[in-house]
Parts: sequence; C-alpha cells; structure tokens
Amino acid sequence: MNYDIKLQNVSKYYAMGNSKVKALENLSLEIDHGEIVVFLGPSGSGKTTLLNLVGALENATNGMITIGNKEITQIKRQKQFTYRRETIGFIFQTFNLFPTLSALENVQYVADLAKLKRSKQKAIEALQIVGLGERIRHFPHQLSGGEQQRVAIARALVKDAPIILADEPTGELDFKTGRQILSLLVEQKQTKKTVLLVTHNREISRLAHRVIELQSGQIVADGPPKDGTVSIDNLEW
Ligand SMILES: Nc1ncnc2c1ncn2[C@@H]1O[C@H](COP(=O)(O)OP(=O)(O)O)[C@@H](O)[C@H]1O
Ligand SMILES: [Mg+2]
Repeated sequence: MNYDIKLQNVSKYYAMGNSKVKALENLSLEIDHGEIVVFLGPSGSGKTTLLNLVGALENATNGMITIGNKEITQIKRQKQFTYRRETIGFIFQTFNLFPTLSALENVQYVADLAKLKRSKQKAIEALQIVGLGERIRHFPHQLSGGEQQRVAIARALVKDAPIILADEPTGELDFKTGRQILSLLVEQKQTKKTVLLVTHNREISRLAHRVIELQSGQIVADGPPKDGTVSIDNLEW
C-alpha cells in the first residue's frame, strides 16, 4: 500500500459570527510514505488544523487531499471513520486518555475499535514498547504526565497505523520526558511509519530532516532545518 500524503490548494476557513477566520490558505505539499516531517509555526499558524484535515477529523473548505491514491476530502463520514481507524494514529498535546479506563484499557479500547484480533495482547505489547509494561493496571490519575503521554503513544502505535499525527506531544512535559517521547516517535521510522510532528519550538524541529514552516496558514519554508539536523540526544530546549 502507498500512503503518500498530497495536499493540493487546500484552504480551511472557520465561520466566526459574521466573519471568516482563515486557518489555512491555499496549501500544497507532498509527504512520502515513511518520512518524518516537522510542522513548525507560532500559535495560530494553522498547525492543528492541518493535522485535523490530514486525519479527516475536519473537512477542508477548498482543495483536495489524497492519501496514496485515495481522495479523503470528499468521502462520506462513515468512510472517513474507516480511514481514521485503519490509517491514522493520533497523539494529542493533552493526552486525551479516558480517565476511568486503566492504561491497558485505554490502549485496548483503540485496538478493539480497529477490530484487531488478540487486542489485549497487542495492547500489552504496545505498552511494553513505550516502557510501561509494569504499569498497565494504573489509571491516568496515577500516572505522571510523561507516563500518560506514553500511554497515548501506545494507543497510536497499537493499530500499527501507517500515519502518526502528533500535535505538540511534548507540550505538557518536562525536558527529559519530552526527549524520551520524541525518541519514541522518531524510532517509528524503522517500521516505515510516516510521522507528522507539530511543534512551535524551533529547537525541537531540528530532530527532522524536513521542516515545513507555517505562518498565518501558509507555508513559508520547506526544507532541512535552518540550523541543521541534530540527533535527539543532543537536542536542548
Ligand atoms: N474551531 C475553530 N473555530 C474558529 N476558529 C478556529 C477553530 N480552530 C482553529 N481556529 C482558528 O484558526 C487559526 C489556526 O488555528 P490552529 O490550527 O489551531 O493553529 P495552531 O495549531 O498553529 O496554534 C487560528 O486563528 C484559530 O483561532
Ligand atoms: Mg495547535
């Protein structure tokens, strides 16, 4: 399967009373399957909107988005649900775990939704990969921020979805934990996953070989990080 991402002249406007907020303006870009790309931009530049469109959580106002040879902008809601379930792993800034489900149940829930066989075993394995094998019975409030975010990553990985969308996944974490989380994401390259990582932090953007900069809903740069790529172990922010 081919999961190359292609946006052609994509715009997104939100209605605010009588006025229109322009979140993305005529964006075109291509991301190859297996690439790790950082989207860098200040607050309000359209980063989250872009991930939401690629993940089909929202529809574009204009333009076309294709994943492989499938168009996702004009398909029905049920098909968008199937696309999300099979293709996308989301990691949100604020974790979004279910507070009344244990770590294991949070991950297994997603595995069940994706109709995976041996969902419990797969959930346990995903939690082991993120280093939480010992804490699978804990509830979110019994886990630190970094541990909660690792559960969120396990949830995104358990389906083995080809595209991971990570929206400022280190925003709520201390530096050391943030670095562990970023390492986990970058390691996904080994399993040929595409990772779209959003950040407003220029230093963090240096972990990638390709950084797409957004400003006011438009692409203002697309290429290697301006100050060079840095291995995660040497990142400081
Ligand atoms: N649901 C919404 N309704 C109205 N305006 C929105 C909505 N979501 C985002 N926006 C606006 O769209 C612009 C881009 O937002 P966003 O994609 O969240 O930026 P970022 O993630 O880079 O901070 C901002 O001006 C924001 O206020
Ligand atoms: Mg955002």
